[in-house]
Amino acid sequence: MPSWVEEFFINKGELFLLVMNRAWEKGPERAETIKKILEKHGVAKGRILEICCGNGRISINLAKIGYEVYGVDISERYIRDAKERAKQSGVEEKTSFIVGDVRELSKFFSENYFDAVLNIWTSIGYYDADTDQKIFREVYKVTKNNGIFIIANCASRDGILKSFCKNLFEDFKDLVILHYNDYDIMESRLKARWVYYRRQDNKDLKYLGETTLNLRLYSIHEVVKMLENAGWKVIEVLDNLREQREAKYDSPINIIAKKVL
Ligand SMILES: C[S@@+](CC[C@H](N)C(=O)[O-])C[C@H]1O[C@@H](n2cnc3c(N)ncnc32)[C@H](O)[C@@H]1O
Repeated sequence: MPSWVEEFFINKGELFLLVMNRAWEKGPERAETIKKILEKHGVAKGRILEICCGNGRISINLAKIGYEVYGVDISERYIRDAKERAKQSGVEEKTSFIVGDVRELSKFFSENYFDAVLNIWTSIGYYDADTDQKIFREVYKVTKNNGIFIIANCASRDGILKSFCKNLFEDFKDLVILHYNDYDIMESRLKARWVYYRRQDNKDLKYLGETTLNLRLYSIHEVVKMLENAGWKVIEVLDNLREQREAKYDSPINIIAKKVL
């Protein structure tokens, strides 16, 4: 049986692609914000890796503002789309998109290769804590000394539970998604069912399909510890990358770490 990750992002990956496409409008602003953070920490130019890059909304926008960007994603469909979009945006030469599993990152890249690595929009917690820590170690290996690792816009356990909602919906006008949520206290996992509908002629909803999600939710301090165990020095924990405010107890996970030998 496929894991929920395979079902969500590969076998039924066309459904989540609809959501990712809607997030593209925020891509340029997110990339500018990341550039400011990278510059602040000494990466004004250079080679960037985005792990779990989806169809490239961050990578392509970073390439447009001067970086050489590599994107890795497990979904062949999303990588195909990212390559197509890079071509359309005129940054084909400055981007490399690769189908790959982030759990085996060092198979794809040499050690000490990247000036910075990015993990954006709740792209941890897909497996378990041991696996995420191993991923952080893989990232560490492929990052240069004094290189930066940014985990940003990632749902935190404390933020989700503060306003936990069993049933909720997202309305993107032509796309409506119902979320049926449960929280597993013993495992700290968000177990959810997403049901997708297309809105037709501005009123009736047509069922498109559904997927399940089983996400390990972390508190900020857990991710900090896992990063440190993987060798990273955590240098900033923020509420919000754009305004660079310090994190509060219920902030999303926005952590900047540095490889210091
Ligand atoms: C929430 S999306 C984030 C996409 C992108 N970072 C963005 O901000 O638009 C998470 C991505 O992680 C990818 N992913 C999940 N498991 C992965 C794995 N083991 N290796 C590589 N990519 C993975 C999915 O295919 C999906 O594109």
